[in-house]
This record gives sequence, C-alpha cells and structure tokens, in this order.
Amino acid sequence: MLSAGNIGVRNCVMSVIALWLLICILGTSPAFAQYYAWPESCSRKGGPDCQKLAKQNAKGPVLSVLEYGAKGDGKTDDSQAFLKAWTAACKDGTTIVIPQGSSFLVAPTNFTGPCSSKITLQITGEVLAPPDPSVWGELSTATWLLFSSVDSFTILGGGTIDGQGQSWWSKSCKRNRKNTCTKAPTALTLENCNDAVVQDLNFRNAQQMHLHFNFCNRVTASGITITAPGTSPNTDGIHVSNSTSVVIESCTIGTGDDCVSLSSGTSGLQIKNVTCGPGHGLSIGSLGKAGANDHVSDVLVDGATLVGTKNGLRIKTWQGGQGSVTNIQYQNVKMSNVDHPILINQYYCDSQIPCLNQTSAVKVSDVSYKNIQGTSSIAVAVEFACSDTVPCTGITLDNVDIQHGTSTRTKSFCESAKGTAVGTVTPTSCLQS
Ligand SMILES: *[C@@H]1O[C@H](CO)[C@@H](O)[C@H](O)[C@H]1NC(C)=O
Ligand SMILES: *[C@@H]1O[C@H](CO)[C@@H](O)[C@H](O)[C@H]1NC(C)=O
Ligand SMILES: *[C@@H]1O[C@H](CO)[C@@H](O)[C@H](O)[C@H]1NC(C)=O
Ligand SMILES: *[C@@H]1O[C@H](CO)[C@@H](O)[C@H](O)[C@H]1NC(C)=O
Repeated sequence: MLSAGNIGVRNCVMSVIALWLLICILGTSPAFAQYYAWPESCSRKGGPDCQKLAKQNAKGPVLSVLEYGAKGDGKTDDSQAFLKAWTAACKDGTTIVIPQGSSFLVAPTNFTGPCSSKITLQITGEVLAPPDPSVWGELSTATWLLFSSVDSFTILGGGTIDGQGQSWWSKSCKRNRKNTCTKAPTALTLENCNDAVVQDLNFRNAQQMHLHFNFCNRVTASGITITAPGTSPNTDGIHVSNSTSVVIESCTIGTGDDCVSLSSGTSGLQIKNVTCGPGHGLSIGSLGKAGANDHVSDVLVDGATLVGTKNGLRIKTWQGGQGSVTNIQYQNVKMSNVDHPILINQYYCDSQIPCLNQTSAVKVSDVSYKNIQGTSSIAVAVEFACSDTVPCTGITLDNVDIQHGTSTRTKSFCESAKGTAVGTVTPTSCLQS
C-alpha cells in the first residue's frame, strides 16, 4: 500500500499531464506559438531554431546566455554571463537557452531564487565544469551548479552537463587510501524547490554525484541519461534527500556508484522504467550513520533493469542508528549478472575503522519484492542481514526467481528477518514467520 504518498504523486502526475495537454493545444495556434517560444518545440527543432528564437526574443520570453556575453568556446569562464542571464530570467520569469553547438565552461556557481514566476533552463549545448579542483579554492566543494529556492523550475533541452571529474576521482580516498577523504562536488543540485522538472538531459563524469534533489517537493526527473566509468568513486546517478513526491522515470544510468540513492527525509517516491549499470544499483541509505535518526518511507520501484551492478535492490543502514525504513515496494525488476540482487544490510560500514555492533538500529519494515527475475553473479542472491535487537519485519517475497549465472544454485541468507514468501520463490526463502 502506498497510501497518501502514492495519491499525492498520482495527482501531481495527472496535473502535470493536464498542463502539458493544455500547452500542446495552445501551442498549435500559430499566433500563440509565435509569441511563446515553447521550450519543448524549440528543443525538438534543434539548436539553430533555439538560437534564432533567442536572438529574436532577447528581451522577450526566451533569452540566450550568448546575449549576456557567454563565449561558449569551452575555455572562457562563462559563469558571470550565466549569472546575469539567471538574474534577468529570474526577474521576469522566462526561459534561458544554453544553445546547441557550443560548450560553456562554468565555475562553481549558486543560482538563487525566489524568481518572479515559472523559469525554464533549456540546455541544448554543453555545460562543462572546470577540470581543475583548485578552482574551488575556499568555496564549498559540496556543489558545482547549485539552484536553490526556486519554485516551478524546469530544466530540459537534450544537452549535456559534464563534470569533467577525472582529477577529483584521482584525489579520492576511495582510489587511494593515502588520500584524505574530502567531499567532491555534486554536478547539479536542486535545493529548496517545489514543482521541479528535470527532463531530457545528459550527465557525464560528475566530480561526485550527478543530480541531487534536497528539500524538494513534487519533483519529476525523466528521460535522463547519466554516464561515468564504473571505476569512478561515489559518482551516484540521482540522489534524493529530504524530499517528497518525487518521480524518477525513463532514465538510463551507468556510473561508479548508486544508480539512484535515497537518503534521509524522503517519502513518496516512484522509480519507473529505469535502467542501471554499471554501478551499485538502486539504494536506500546509507541511513543511521553516527547515531542519526533517519526516515525513508513510501517508495515504489516499478519496472527496472539492472545489468552487471554490484547490488540490485539494496537497503543499507549503520549499526547504532535510529529511525525507520517502511513501506517499500519493488516490482517488475529484471537483473542480469548482479552481485547482490536483493539485499538488506543493517551492518553497513563504509569506514576504514571497523564498526562495532550496537543495540539501536534503523527499523526496517514492510518491504515487498514482487516479480523479480534474473541472474546473480554470486550464490547468495537474497540476503537479509537485519539487526538482532531491531529485526526486519513484514518482508514479502512474491514470484521471485534469481538464478546463478553458472550452474550453482542460488541461496538465501537471513539474520533477524521476518516475513512471508508467496508464489514461486528461488532461492528458497529463509524468512521467519
Ligand atoms: C553556494 O552556497 C553555499 C551555501 O549554501 C556556499 O557554501 C558555497 O560556497 C556557495 N558557492 C558559491 C560558488 O558561491
Ligand atoms: C536532510 O535533513 C537533515 C535534517 O534536517 C539534515 O541533517 C541532513 O543533512 C539533510 N541532508 C542533506 C543532504 O542536506
Ligand atoms: C523507458 O526508458 C527508456 C530510456 O531509458 C526510453 O527510451 C523508453 O521509451 C521508456 N519506455 C517507456 C515505456 O516509457
Ligand atoms: C554483529 O552481529 C552479527 C549478527 O549477529 C554477527 O554476525 C557479527 O559477527 C557481529 N559483529 C561483531 C563485530 O561483533
């Protein structure tokens, strides 16, 4: 049962559909189409049209970063031009175009609202990060492009956001234990936003995470492609924290870390038609680190394909945490050659110092796995390693069939895991009733 969260998301999706229908109907009227350069049609017609529109409408409903002095040669720092364009668009509530055929080098920048009304960022070209980490200087290394306190904000256009993260990766303590562990930037962060849409965009080689929603409500991310090498450290695809009513749909993500990761304060999230690999799969957590009181609830994963990932469907919590993970539904998931297809790990310890067992734990309850098929690369395909003091409860396995890639039979592992198996379940369930 997804209850209130689900209904909220559904209403949100329905109003978005209604709005687009209205726009489509109005958009077919020539006078209307002429006046309002709809970002959708501009993106479909391709770059030159967008640039022409941008020129025609320098002070109109669409403005181009070129009008604000951006060079787009991939070498000149275009941050100030981007900020000027942002200030103008934010004041009037218009569309900013980042035109096709050009690469814009943009330093770490904060784009801040609130804006007067709806604002759209149409990226048809390429946005490049400075490859040299020293450019961050005294600035926080948590973010590269940060959009905060903007409501009704849309980013689209089919272009690319490239973090050029290679130098950050070689500095990572995950690569070399002698390096000090520091935070590398998230490529694109949306913070404190209501009604955000990120669609039809490509992300490449982020310094750390690619796309992060933090403290956002009613968010849709769709048609997003994210690529980074499987060996790049901590390069999560999409990360969601402190957010409600989030839909992630029709995305293809292959990176060196989680495909989609959900952390504390997230409820009412749907993931549909997502393809992952390489990487660490679909993750909830880690939660409860250093005694944190973390909550994640009402998550539906419906339709996912995981290929060659380290984990499939994973929930991870640290010993000694508090809070809850509840009402998580995984259904219609296909896996191929996944190391740990189904995993709840309450002994998560991503630390150079071993973690001791403790009595408190994040409570995991009501997690269902339905129609999950595929292959695992190791024998233990289903693993529920739950806290001895706070057991996992209400786990359901329904029509699960995971075979070993080779002839070995797959196995289940249970520690303090309670629930039921329904229908055909391979490997045989070890849940306690
Ligand atoms: C952006 O804002 C954050 C605080 O929210 C700050 O730490 C960071 O240094 C700012 N970055 C820039 C480029 O101003
Ligand atoms: C989410 O909110 C909690 C509580 O306010 C905070 O401790 C945590 O740092 C937030 N997460 C992020 C990624 O900002
Ligand atoms: C599923 O997502 C892919 C992109 O990852 C897209 O090409 C395809 O059209 C989507 N399928 C459906 C049914 O939405
Ligand atoms: C923690 O508890 C688990 C489950 O009872 C046990 O397998 C593991 O050995 C314990 N670890 C330590 C460090 O005591």
